[in-house]
Amino acid sequence: MKIIKKKSKLKVALNSLSNQTIGFVPTMGALHDGHISLIKASNSRCDITVCSIYINPTQFNSQKDLSNYPSNLKKDIEFLKKNQCDIVFTPNDFELYDGNVKSCEFNLNKLDKYMEGKYRPGHFQGVATVVTKLFEIIKPNFAFFGEKDLQQLMIIKHISNESDIKIFSVPTFRDKNGIALSSRNNNLTKDSYRSATIIFKSLCYCRDNINKYDIVTLKNKVKKLFERSKFNLEYLEFVSMETMHPIDFSCHNFAICIAATVENIRLIDNIIINAKETN
Ligand code: PAJ
Repeated sequence: MKIIKKKSKLKVALNSLSNQTIGFVPTMGALHDGHISLIKASNSRCDITVCSIYINPTQFNSQKDLSNYPSNLKKDIEFLKKNQCDIVFTPNDFELYDGNVKSCEFNLNKLDKYMEGKYRPGHFQGVATVVTKLFEIIKPNFAFFGEKDLQQLMIIKHISNESDIKIFSVPTFRDKNGIALSSRNNNLTKDSYRSATIIFKSLCYCRDNINKYDIVTLKNKVKKLFERSKFNLEYLEFVSMETMHPIDFSCHNFAICIAATVENIRLIDNIIINAKETN
């Protein structure tokens, strides 16, 4: 596995590949089996898999959240080596932002109006900025994103729909209790981690009772469930898969999305219902 820090070196390495398909998996490190499922998806479709590890400052709303973001590059590199990644790109701020660490302005077609976009203003402009920069350097044939960050996936699909890069989505990887793997889980105490099952349980409850109760009732029932838990419910939304806007009645293709916090750690999750394939 090649470990490359400089974009100039990465371009040279990629240019030397003739007619091989490149799959790209962007990450912010603190890698877990969810990230590895993206690497595996890339390996199964592409000749070469490139993974980037870069904690992107422009997508964080607070300096504290940025500085608390877990990081362990040595461990990540060992993990990637074991999982057949060909190239890992680990740029610094200067390599990607040329000294101007700011977001560009993208038209996100209002996909960022609710949920993460609402609670984390500017977050998706930061994500779109860094992903576009990485795409320009790597010029992959395919890029792989997790359904775990559903709104991000839909936004990346939107900004890439006129490019030659095909975006693939990968289902959320969960532990045996249903908790979605997340780098932020590293910051949870053992007790909070155990309590985090409430997130997926609430999603399953909504999915299983969607024909019994209306959305307002389901939201109230979940609110009550959270009142008895150590987690604070930030939002529970039923959204159209096309627009990522809230719906009042269950429709053909929608997702149930949730964000909850404990001890300043914010977790998100979702379930897609009646989905047309996200790919
Ligand atoms: P990060 O949170 O490191 O996630 C990198 C990729 O892994 C994303 O596509 C995310 O959806 C996927 N992922 C995370 N947990 C997963 C799980 N349990 N199952 C399946 N996939 C999972 O998302 C980002 O980084 C950043 O915003 C990034 C796109 C790299 C831009 O900075």
